[in-house]
Amino acid sequence: MLEDILNYAYEGYVLVDNQGKIVKMNYEKLMGIKEEDALGKPVEGVIENTRMHIVVKTGVKELRDVQRIQGHDMITNRIPIVKNGRIIGGVGTVLFKDVSEVKELAHQLLDLQSKINKYRGEIERIQGTRYSFDSIITRNGKMEYLKKVGRKAAESNSTVLITGESGTGKEMFAHAIHKASYRKAEAFIPINCAAIPRDLLESELFGYEGGAFTGARKEGKPGKFELATGGTIFLDEIGTMPMEMQAKLLRVLEAKEFERIGGNKKIDLDARVIAATNENIEEEIRKGKFREDLYYRLNVITIDIPPLRDRPEDISLLAENLLEYLIKEMRTEEKELSPETIKILRRYSWPGNVRELRNVLERAINLSSKTLILPEHLPERVLNRINYNLGNKEEVEPLKDIIREAEKEAIRKALILTNGNKSLAAEKLGIHRTALYKKMEKYEMEDYY
Ligand SMILES: Nc1ncnc2c1ncn2[C@@H]1O[C@H](COP(=O)(O)OP(=O)(O)OP(=O)(O)O)[C@@H](O)[C@H]1O
Ligand SMILES: [Mg+2]
Repeated sequence: MLEDILNYAYEGYVLVDNQGKIVKMNYEKLMGIKEEDALGKPVEGVIENTRMHIVVKTGVKELRDVQRIQGHDMITNRIPIVKNGRIIGGVGTVLFKDVSEVKELAHQLLDLQSKINKYRGEIERIQGTRYSFDSIITRNGKMEYLKKVGRKAAESNSTVLITGESGTGKEMFAHAIHKASYRKAEAFIPINCAAIPRDLLESELFGYEGGAFTGARKEGKPGKFELATGGTIFLDEIGTMPMEMQAKLLRVLEAKEFERIGGNKKIDLDARVIAATNENIEEEIRKGKFREDLYYRLNVITIDIPPLRDRPEDISLLAENLLEYLIKEMRTEEKELSPETIKILRRYSWPGNVRELRNVLERAINLSSKTLILPEHLPERVLNRINYNLGNKEEVEPLKDIIREAEKEAIRKALILTNGNKSLAAEKLGIHRTALYKKMEKYEMEDYY
């Protein structure tokens, strides 16, 4: 057994006595020399370029030395064997029978290292600005209760449905639940169902095999459900999901498995599902736009975030906290809200909720030159003089600038009047939802105005 171990552990080995005579060896694979022909002979006469006879004299071990044998550079260790302070022999082992093997290993290692770095960066990017329950600021009773529900939900694997108007913190809750769950080290994969054209949604969610359809990547592509394996998938704006996708999603959630488009390999569904919507789903069900059975399947745990206007006690608390946060982020000098400013903030109805508050504060920080933020630094709509007109500028501007401003203004108005409901806003504007998203992105209106 010992001999087997030695043979498997090393490409070759040799054992010599204190005179450098061979006691045992296996160099057959490397040099074609049989053990019985070598036993008892001086090692330097048998093995090319050996230094075993020197090592048993000096008693100094030589590790990872390069030894040229029959035209190959081998990596060897030479170790003296010492007993009661006396050298009684030595053992030489060949670790690699060619340096090129080591080089190859080193390459593979470097390759792996750079892959790890890439994925680490990717995970950090995906996980991005992670929110925890501690970053959800509130002193409202219902909100505190919802944070408790969220913490409880994090311990389970149940599907969570988060509802609430735009900018109320649905995404924050989704992050917080993931971060508090045992899946926290795995991916958090968000997908905005409204921002993806309906014919691409299925392949985005479930992926496809190579050649599944024209234009498909040759090697295929994993979908979000596959990428979220072990972690959490966040289905944002689920209310806009087309009916046929809803049916498919329900089937997947029930069967707990899915396959790529054009594939036949079943993939286990091992992702916690969190869905969010700012539409009134019950209303959508009544209108026949959302499947009731899917609603009940998603709605195992519900977190219905109240709009900011229903928790006025949060306005000043959030304003102070967001101000502090923004000042740090923008690296500007300390600023404070004047008591009058706080009063006005508390009076406003915040159709865009916390996100709108954040944007108003960011704007105010930029506009105020002194340390105090005054009412004059607030936008007109907050001061309760909403004005959607284009203004009475004297000079004529290029038509494209005017059109651009008019478009932005119309989108802004639609969003304010629909409480940030993008589907409804698009409907009112008579454009498709994806077109609205495109325009908002183009005009950098991702956030509420
Ligand atoms: N309770 C809170 N404490 C601190 N910040 C908050 C809170 N709620 C929301 N925010 C801030 O408001 C912004 C919007 O939150 P979030 O993106 O979670 O909203 P949402 O409900 O997903 O909106 P939408 O429906 O438009 O996607 C975030 O940038 C976050 O910083
Ligand atoms: Mg969101």
